[in-house]
Amino acid sequence: MDTIIITGVAGFIGYNLAERLIHSYNIIGVDNMAYDNPMSYSLKLSRLDNLKKHSNFRFMKYDLSDKYILDVFPGEYYKNKIKCIIHLAAKAGVTDSLIHSDEYVNSNIIGFTNILKLAVHLGIDHVIYASSSSVYGDKFELTPSSETSNTDHPKSFYAVTKKCSELIADLFNKDYGLNCTGLRFFSVYGPWGRPDMSYFKFVNNLVNSEQVTLYGYGESVRNFTYIDDVTKSIELLIDKPKHKIYNVSGLNSSIKIKDLFELIRIKALEYNMIKSDILTPLNCELRSGDVNETNGSSEELFKDINYLPSTKLGDGITEFLYWYRNYYCL
Ligand SMILES: NC(=O)c1ccc[n+]([C@@H]2O[C@H](COP(=O)([O-])OP(=O)(O)OC[C@H]3O[C@@H](n4cnc5c(N)ncnc54)[C@H](O)[C@@H]3O)[C@@H](O)[C@H]2O)c1
Repeated sequence: MDTIIITGVAGFIGYNLAERLIHSYNIIGVDNMAYDNPMSYSLKLSRLDNLKKHSNFRFMKYDLSDKYILDVFPGEYYKNKIKCIIHLAAKAGVTDSLIHSDEYVNSNIIGFTNILKLAVHLGIDHVIYASSSSVYGDKFELTPSSETSNTDHPKSFYAVTKKCSELIADLFNKDYGLNCTGLRFFSVYGPWGRPDMSYFKFVNNLVNSEQVTLYGYGESVRNFTYIDDVTKSIELLIDKPKHKIYNVSGLNSSIKIKDLFELIRIKALEYNMIKSDILTPLNCELRSGDVNETNGSSEELFKDINYLPSTKLGDGITEFLYWYRNYYCL
């Protein structure tokens, strides 16, 4: 079996990807296990516990911003032994990213540059890395964003770091011929998800009889992408070492946030997870860094891997709710 490095392996996408790939590859998983909040940290521990059950999974707790990373993977042992690096580690989330800019620079810019240096050091010719739909900033065109749409006006510091990653990747391609496949993910959701994301927060609030906050008065639109579609796309890209950027966006999965809330409320009620009388949501201004709309086209991805993220939003939300009910023993 070939060996792959996955960074951010205790995170939402990294974990789900490792669970998919563990049947075909030996996996070296890297994560710094940063403590964000109790719920997110405890999920990281549970994800890691599951992965450690596989004999071909090896975990390295390591912060990628550490400049000694090359020493952790000595060339004499690892050179030409790793098929590819899938780099998902990052400080994620747009709000407050400017306030915590140092953490974003460390993980998303220094950590990313170190990973590309590591790839060169180990003779790896392919790095697949996470960018983000946030690089498109506010959308002014009526058509879905394509990879050639303008990315010169990111609205958050997080988005700036992702745009910066894409530029750094281009430099490594020019100087070292490294193939960097950048993935602009659009609001990935599903089992083992991230508690700071809207769909997860709505369920938490509803289950705990807390008031939901709808930023942007619930009018902003997000293009959601189901986690299994994302991990399947990455799996198919492993054998396509190209220097290229792809949107990874769910087909027909754009929805206003207030409508997403309603979808979740109705389903959670149907599955007996919540009470029928809930507090009316609180409507607020959009938070700094948030865009009005994300809407992407994955045509380019389809052309190259013949696969389109197309899980229906309702089905994906159902899967998430089933997972939530089991995991939190409701
Ligand atoms: N989930 C989404 O909707 C979405 C959308 C667009 C882009 N992305 C990007 O996809 C990637 C994965 O996102 P996710 O939702 O799984 O996030 P996540 O926060 O669940 O996972 C990221 C993981 O990276 C680890 N990490 C952070 N900094 C690190 C460092 N310096 N060294 C080692 N490990 C570090 C964290 O501990 C965490 O486990 C990220 O790059 C994120 O920016 C995600």
